[in-house]
Amino acid sequence: MSLEEVLQPAIDLARDGYTIDSYFSEQIADNAERIAMFPATAALYLDPDGNPWPEGTVIVNDDLANTFELIASDGISVFYEGEIAADIVDAVQNAPVNPGMMELNDLANYRAVRRQPVTTNYRGYDVYGMNMPTSGGTTLMMMLNLLEGFDMENMEWGSLDMVSTLANVQNVAFADRNQYMADADFVDVNVDGLLDKAYARERRSLIQSFSAVSTPVDPGQPPVIELEEAAEETSYAIDWDDTESTSTTHFSIVDKDRNMVSVTTTIELLFGSAVLVPGRGFLLNNELTDFSFAFEDEQGNSIANAPTGERAPRRTALGEDAATEGGKRPRSSMAPTLILHNGTPFMAVGSPGGSRIIGYVFNVIVNVIDYELDIQSAVNVPRIVARNGGITLDTELFTLELTGGLTARGFSVSDGNTGSVQAVLVGPDGLLYGAADPRRQGVALGH
Ligand code: DON
Repeated sequence: MSLEEVLQPAIDLARDGYTIDSYFSEQIADNAERIAMFPATAALYLDPDGNPWPEGTVIVNDDLANTFELIASDGISVFYEGEIAADIVDAVQNAPVNPGMMELNDLANYRAVRRQPVTTNYRGYDVYGMNMPTSGGTTLMMMLNLLEGFDMENMEWGSLDMVSTLANVQNVAFADRNQYMADADFVDVNVDGLLDKAYARERRSLIQSFSAVSTPVDPGQPPVIELEEAAEETSYAIDWDDTESTSTTHFSIVDKDRNMVSVTTTIELLFGSAVLVPGRGFLLNNELTDFSFAFEDEQGNSIANAPTGERAPRRTALGEDAATEGGKRPRSSMAPTLILHNGTPFMAVGSPGGSRIIGYVFNVIVNVIDYELDIQSAVNVPRIVARNGGITLDTELFTLELTGGLTARGFSVSDGNTGSVQAVLVGPDGLLYGAADPRRQGVALGH
């Protein structure tokens, strides 16, 4: 399909307008103060008196429709190098709050890179995910490699032992994530060593029992593996409320030929930086906040995910004095994942949720492969998430019995997970089963 064809539904939606549902109206209200700081953003999401538009309001965004039409007619270069680029830079440099230092060159030099996926095998299933600069794929696979050594068959779903094991495994994997993972174009990330099965065995020995591995877990020393030659990096109308997250969105698709797609997109916070490019109708992200805010650890060692390093020191929006590198990408946690079984498509899955994304996707994969839950149940059931610290449990699991048992084992426990896992599974009967997360009013469609 041509760019024009692909953009047409979005152009129509922006031109005809979309209705604010209850979820979105809450999100606008929760962010009204930030939105009000930027006149162009306020003009779209607040009424003339500065109040959030209520549920039921139709938002028309002609500026955005015009932006898409311009891209459709002139091609994507108008965004990175043409008049839209100039307006983006102007909006950043002249923002009334926290103006940034983005320059035209930053956009002109930006490249989307085709990267090799990371992969592991989990109990006979081939799992593929996104490589650096997201920590999502590699950390997820480290969790699976660790869990593979545990006999989950003997741990009932939701039992104290199962929850303890899932939490310990996530904590151990997160120690290495936090230490080593960052944009591999700027720091060396030993992905092969981190995903080595022997290394997983070594790290698994930290989990001697069902008691809590004391956190924060120290990072390990992944082995250096001889590398093989690296491969070159080289519409339809739906009558429903708009339920798309305004910050991070995931969708999974499997088509009739069993081609699978798993896509996560993010502008980081709700409404991103809250800077809407005047006259262009779109928000700018605040993805830079996915960098570490510290440049060095307590021992003075540089932090892999700091916006700094040895290559091409220069300034960024974080400060003129910082020895920062233009072009370094912040570490993400997005974990769009594809799974094959015996060489055939099995599952596409992913979620929004910041650094909890990794745990969400991990839980759902374990629910499907180890506990043989149907895909919708695997998405629905409460989740256990840990990031080299305490455990967060979905409220339904937050019972006195379980939390008491976990506390006695040395875990600190809180409730309050969210996430919005979207998955498609190719069933043993050859049918496609879609599951949308009830936590976020999603819906699975077949057509
Ligand atoms: O790239 C990342 O990992 C984050 N920017 C994702 C943020 C996110 O999921 C927030 N939405 N729920």
